[in-house]
Amino acid sequence: MIRVAAVFGGACTLALNALSAWIRHARGGLGCEPWPACYGAPAPFEPPLWAALAHRVLAVAVLATVVWAAARSWRRRTGRVAAGLALAAVAGLAAIGPLSGDPGREAVVLANLLGGWVLLGALAWLAGPTGRDGMRPSALAVAALAFLLAANGGLISARFAVDACPALPLCPAPDPGATLHLAHRAAAIALLAALGWWSRALLRTGSGAAALALAAVAAAQLVTGVMTAAGTPGPALAAAHGLGGQLLFAAALALGRR
Ligand code: HEM
Repeated sequence: MIRVAAVFGGACTLALNALSAWIRHARGGLGCEPWPACYGAPAPFEPPLWAALAHRVLAVAVLATVVWAAARSWRRRTGRVAAGLALAAVAGLAAIGPLSGDPGREAVVLANLLGGWVLLGALAWLAGPTGRDGMRPSALAVAALAFLLAANGGLISARFAVDACPALPLCPAPDPGATLHLAHRAAAIALLAALGWWSRALLRTGSGAAALALAAVAAAQLVTGVMTAAGTPGPALAAAHGLGGQLLFAAALALGRR
């Protein structure tokens, strides 16, 4: 039952994180007109009613699920660390919630983004097979690199540096924003290598469908990343890029156990 609740809570967290990213990117003016002149100083953006409502409903669903799962795992003496981490992440996110309306507050953007990832990771861990507390090194590398990419990508967005390196593969005029882009690309290559390594293990254990699904998410991730950096960025595209990263991260923590 805890695993079912964790899958439900994890799905709601994925949706909540993606919606929060969309609102943050829209507030920051990603893809505003005339791009990039208005970037970082766009017209004020208020989320539409459906987004505000969906955000509230998802947040309540996540909170209720995490509190229930934490109480249950405490009584059953199983998954206490992951459930405690999820509870701490929810409390932290609720505490910084009122500050998160400004997309340029670097520390708050990062705490919000990574808090959402910690919550997702804890729920993905609870959703995974019980009694297996070790992780395949390849899956651990995928999860760690995805988390690093989230921190680095969040910094690119909080510093309004999405347009700092539109050339591929390297930036013609390196500056602090471009350096963040180059680090992001290097980490993405490392993640793809780790994913290939993990996929081999998945194929060996008869999980070909999972390996295929991960390859599809990784390919979509490359497309959305390149389009955001080099093409015409937009809040929906950037939110989809973050969502792909979250899927890889959650899959590694839930399926990479042994
Ligand atoms: C599989 C590899 C990749 C992963 C897991 C990944 C993950 C992420 C994540 C989680 C974010 C933060 C999203 C947010 O702010 O909500 C991000 C941002 C970003 N990524 Fe990637 N990324 C990958 C590959 C790439 C590639 C190849 C490029 C471009 C060549 C790219 C370009 C960007 C840019 C420009 C941002 C900042 C804008 C934004 O926040 O969406 N990414 N990435």
